[in-house]
Amino acid sequence: MIEPMVRNNICLNVHPAGCAAMVKNWIRETEETAAPAAKASSGPKPKSVLVIGCSTGYGLASRIVSAFAYGAPTVGVSFERAPSEKKTGSPGWYDNRAFDAEAASRGIYSATIESDAFAKETKLQTIEAIRKGPGTVDLVIYSIASPVRTDPETGVMYRSVIKPIGRTYSGLTVDLVTGELKESYISTATQEEADATVKVMGGEDWKLWIDALAEAKVLARGVRTVAFSYIGPSLSHDIYREGTIGRAKEDLERTAVAIDRSLSPLGGHGWVSVNKAMSTRASAVIPGIGVYIAVLYKVMKERGVHEDCVGQIVRLFCDRLYGAGDTAVDPAGLIRIDDLEMASEIQKETTARMKKITAANLPELADIDGVRSDFLEAHGFAVPGVDYSA
Ligand SMILES: NC(=O)c1ccc[n+]([C@@H]2O[C@H](COP(=O)([O-])OP(=O)(O)OC[C@H]3O[C@@H](n4cnc5c(N)ncnc54)[C@H](O)[C@@H]3O)[C@@H](O)[C@H]2O)c1
Repeated sequence: MIEPMVRNNICLNVHPAGCAAMVKNWIRETEETAAPAAKASSGPKPKSVLVIGCSTGYGLASRIVSAFAYGAPTVGVSFERAPSEKKTGSPGWYDNRAFDAEAASRGIYSATIESDAFAKETKLQTIEAIRKGPGTVDLVIYSIASPVRTDPETGVMYRSVIKPIGRTYSGLTVDLVTGELKESYISTATQEEADATVKVMGGEDWKLWIDALAEAKVLARGVRTVAFSYIGPSLSHDIYREGTIGRAKEDLERTAVAIDRSLSPLGGHGWVSVNKAMSTRASAVIPGIGVYIAVLYKVMKERGVHEDCVGQIVRLFCDRLYGAGDTAVDPAGLIRIDDLEMASEIQKETTARMKKITAANLPELADIDGVRSDFLEAHGFAVPGVDYSA
């Protein structure tokens, strides 16, 4: 029997059967909500898809929607830890196997490469897998969230940090296990830390991928590529948008423009999609964001507009990338599937609640249970339908 071991909002172990069940639940959700519309649509459809960062969160949702709504063959890349005698593997290790098994059972092609996406060899290995499998890809999703990156040219390792720039930050952080609120204090980032975060989470590696795929001629005519960003409300800007991670996201957004230009000979496009704040492995470690997500979940659920990762990606594919007409973007050229989160009525209520949140009123004003269960589910725990006493 495996019980979750969580320290400082990092889950140290994984439930294998729970991961498989979670992947199946996401597939069922996709088949019920998106597959009929995708099949009925007379518009363009993804024919073969590469997902970089395919194993959890938004990347896994993208791979599931590609395969199980559109029937597209997929090649996935993610960095995983295999289980050992004493330790469970990373969640993505189990998710990848569950995905491949489900795809195979429906006769949908999939190939999964478990290797560091930042390394040159992984890019070459992926190109080989595309050549052996679908031949080319016409959609590339870039969904990496990583704390470190080794520069493939220099061998220097960079570490991303989540810190404010030019100011200090203090805010409430929620312990996802106990529900306790703690004041957290973060010092301002140094220039070196800000630059390193851009190196890890900015657009450089995305561009290297697209250049390598183009040079190897495995990008189909009309190829599209999308990477994910977050903007969020002003109350989170000190720690997110105007902090180190925001710098990296600005770089990612600038890279989309360069990629879009570089794909024009192929009639292709590159975009950044701004997604909704979601309780995932990556967001759980961002100070202050957990409380916001918990309040946001509660407000959006009360109004019937809450979406999970699959719901977000279904809308990205069915309404934006492969809907009727051109892909809608905002004046900055960004795809906005955070529109429901950022709606003024949702933000007004969320901000009002954030201002009065205390340990005592937390359960009433925020959906800590929802945030906790999404976080645990990402590690195979608290998945409905799993017998954890087995
Ligand atoms: N969670 C949110 O609230 C949110 C909101 C908007 C945008 N985003 C963005 O979406 C993207 C994905 O975030 P997520 O929350 O789904 O994260 P996640 O942690 O669930 O998934 C990250 C993926 O990246 C892979 N990965 C990490 N390092 C790698 C490496 N070196 N090589 C290969 N694969 C590697 C992991 O295996 C995993 O598949 C990020 O760019 C994030 O900033 C997240």
